Amino acid sequence: MYTNVWYVAAFGQDLTDAPVLVRMLGADFVLFRDADGKVQCVSNVCPHRGASLADGTLLKDGSLACPFHGWRFDGAGACTLIPSRRDHEVQAVAPGTRVDAYAAQERYGLVWVCVGDDPEAASPIPEIPEWDGDEFRFTQHEEVWEANYHTAKFTNLDYVHLPVVHGIPFRNQQNPTQAPAHQVTVTEYGFTSVMQTVPKASEGVWSTLRDEDRKVESVMKFFVAGMTLRGQVEIGGVGSGVFNMFYEFSTPIDAETTMMRYYFLRNYKREEAFDTEHTRRNLQNIHQDKAIAEAQRPKAAPVGPNPRGIYTHDEDKIMLAYWSLMERMRERGWQIDRDAMITAEHRGELRVIPSPARRHAPDGWVYAEMPRYTGRPASAAAISELSYVDVDALTPTRPADYGSVEPVRPEDPKSNATLEWESAALKVVEQAPTFVQPMIIENAEKAARQRGTNMVTAALLQELQAQQSAGRG
Ligand code: FES
Ligand SMILES: [Fe+2]
Repeated sequence: MYTNVWYVAAFGQDLTDAPVLVRMLGADFVLFRDADGKVQCVSNVCPHRGASLADGTLLKDGSLACPFHGWRFDGAGACTLIPSRRDHEVQAVAPGTRVDAYAAQERYGLVWVCVGDDPEAASPIPEIPEWDGDEFRFTQHEEVWEANYHTAKFTNLDYVHLPVVHGIPFRNQQNPTQAPAHQVTVTEYGFTSVMQTVPKASEGVWSTLRDEDRKVESVMKFFVAGMTLRGQVEIGGVGSGVFNMFYEFSTPIDAETTMMRYYFLRNYKREEAFDTEHTRRNLQNIHQDKAIAEAQRPKAAPVGPNPRGIYTHDEDKIMLAYWSLMERMRERGWQIDRDAMITAEHRGELRVIPSPARRHAPDGWVYAEMPRYTGRPASAAAISELSYVDVDALTPTRPADYGSVEPVRPEDPKSNATLEWESAALKVVEQAPTFVQPMIIENAEKAARQRGTNMVTAALLQELQAQQSAGRG
């Protein structure tokens, strides 16, 4: 895991008038708003006896009172009052008392925290230009994946999985699973990858968005800050100006678990009623990726690319660009030393992510800082040493349609083909109370898959409803 990254710690709306506990990089933080409403982030462990500050009380002067002995801390990490000795200066009673405080900003409806000691050197927070205009409708979502953040990110930084996992073949080429030619440009803050393809024609409510056989352009941008992936698909076809977009922010909770937050954007069908379908469709893809990621091994985040890993040209260009960004962060001394951390945890010792105050005054803190690598760990390959097979330089030895075999079950009920909804079926869902909508969607999609169809119809919903009432009666 890497320090000195601006991570998304919460949605701004999650921070109201109470402190909020957030776990990032295997450490606990507390977020709160000060008297001016500005977001603040400090280490959650009270330096006095280790109580959880998030269980404390937020006071009107913007300080946070520990739930155990009431010592107060401000957003800058200073201890402002020891109630039992309130007629004395804090530093006279308990010299050195302070807590690590981190740079925090609220932008684009998100709370960003630079988890580390050098926010000036960290990659800047990416711009979300669509946020200020009114062209795009935004919806949001968050969920925890039981997968490490590299694995979680790679489910989307990949083209070949689109046909295999999501049932979206590349139709304008002989091999519908081959990654289309794409350009990967590495920037200082991340990279961009652009490709064009002719996807499968959409059905149901989506069928009117694009003429069949029209080319679609997909632009993926990755930013180190927020581990942000911005996906942009001109869903109406190249030149149509009809865009579907998402921003995916990944925050490592620890080495095995990741908080995934999303903005879904669209500049078509902007009416609120379409949110249900838009979210459903996005979540369907996300949950297909999640199932893959959670079952992948190793469970814990690797400290770098496997020196014996398999890479092929040119479908792994993106992955190599990603690892080179991570390598740059290790070279700056920002990667947490996993081996040293495991040893410290084993001994029951607390380690705190270093804050800017520690960089200026490293001594005298109650808890030691998290160790960081000073060189390359043996289990991580150097990017320059990774080799890959350049398949384009080889002459094919098999026919172009080699391997076309039907599955044993012709209509595989576990098929990942994207499900479509008839407009009439969507109307039925929209009329139901919001809290039951996810259940109706889940049941209907399960039933559709069992029947080997990828279309959810109003008739199917009625049938399920009838079955349910019969079951109740
Ligand atoms: S543990 Fe926080 S004030 Fe004592
Ligand atoms: Fe995916």
